[in-house]
Amino acid sequence: MLKVINVVGARPNFMKVAPIVQAMKRRKQEFAPLVLHTGQHYDAAMSEAFFRDLELPAPDEYLGVGSASHAAQTAAVMERFEPVLLRENPDWVIVVGDVNSTLACALVCSKLGVKVAHVEAGLRSRDRTMPEEINRILTDQVADLLFTPSADADQNLLAEGIPEERIRFVGNVMIDSLLKHLPRSNSSTIREELDLNEREYAVVTLHRPANVDTSDTFARVLGALEMIGRRLPVVFPVHPRTRKTLSELGLAERVAGSKSLRIIEPLAYLDFLRLYSGARLVLTDSGGIQEETTVLGIPCLTLRENTERPITVDQGTNTIVGTDPERIVREAMAVLDHGPTARHSIPPLWDGHTADRILEALMQS
Ligand code: UD1
Repeated sequence: MLKVINVVGARPNFMKVAPIVQAMKRRKQEFAPLVLHTGQHYDAAMSEAFFRDLELPAPDEYLGVGSASHAAQTAAVMERFEPVLLRENPDWVIVVGDVNSTLACALVCSKLGVKVAHVEAGLRSRDRTMPEEINRILTDQVADLLFTPSADADQNLLAEGIPEERIRFVGNVMIDSLLKHLPRSNSSTIREELDLNEREYAVVTLHRPANVDTSDTFARVLGALEMIGRRLPVVFPVHPRTRKTLSELGLAERVAGSKSLRIIEPLAYLDFLRLYSGARLVLTDSGGIQEETTVLGIPCLTLRENTERPITVDQGTNTIVGTDPERIVREAMAVLDHGPTARHSIPPLWDGHTADRILEALMQS
């Protein structure tokens, strides 16, 4: 019987951990899973709503760290996680993705000699100004087992000197959640509530510091979104970080008055799935949404200069467009005029069975 602590901290973690915990609960003879929530995200809309939608059991441990600077937040997770780890003494800790909670918990494990597995290992943007890139590199260096979503990730790890025997190509666990919940998302009434017709609207998400923390970049991107909004409704569920900077930078009034750009609260998992799965076009700076749109065949424009998920560009529906407003509008119009341009395919092992492969690998390690 393997005792496993599954760590979640921020919104993009929940849909990666849920399938793993559920698979462990189905194999009661072999796994005793615990869910530990660091509390990096704590708003109902950023956390609780995801536990409900993803049928994730309530956390066994809640560290309640909340928001702070990177150093303070990472340190708080480490300090509060250490006694739990000593008390529970699990066989494995699973960390997912690239948020501060991921690195903090991985570091604590490695110092105490507790085995830690990293799910979504090996992704690299090669942009060290992104906090997530630092979290990815360092988590992968200390992890005992690295579960990768794509072959490029294996190559990145090998190039950084990670021994091959620690690497397991298992596919994309977030797609397990997507495929499981897609039929259920039909029960959401979000499109009706917003009075939107299928394939007649665009969806936007933005929360990267590089895009939303400086008024110059943010205002220019908003200008591009307003232009696109003249052609079709653009729905923008706003992350708390983005909401905060909208008002701090004095941009809130501008968007509040915009008819073309519809600012709404952050959505729970099923409502958001229902919304973007019916969109004609998605514009985002998120990592996960690049992958989800690739699986659903929906054109995605990524408002960043790079991606740690190049397979979504090579094989999927993703285009990296940066933050130049003219380019954003031009690329969006091309999609609206011609539909998805290139052929696309679903990457290998993004098939809904990644959690099972992770459990098999844990049993054999
Ligand atoms: C974090 C992750 C990022 C991920 C994003 C998804 C890191 C370094 N960043 O960024 O990779 O894409 O989550 O959402 O871990 N806030 C709230 N309520 C919450 C959470 C945050 O109001 O529940 C506000 C606070 O003002 C906070 C700010 O959002 O200061 C930023 O939150 P934080 O967790 O530091 O980073 P994110 O920008 O959410």
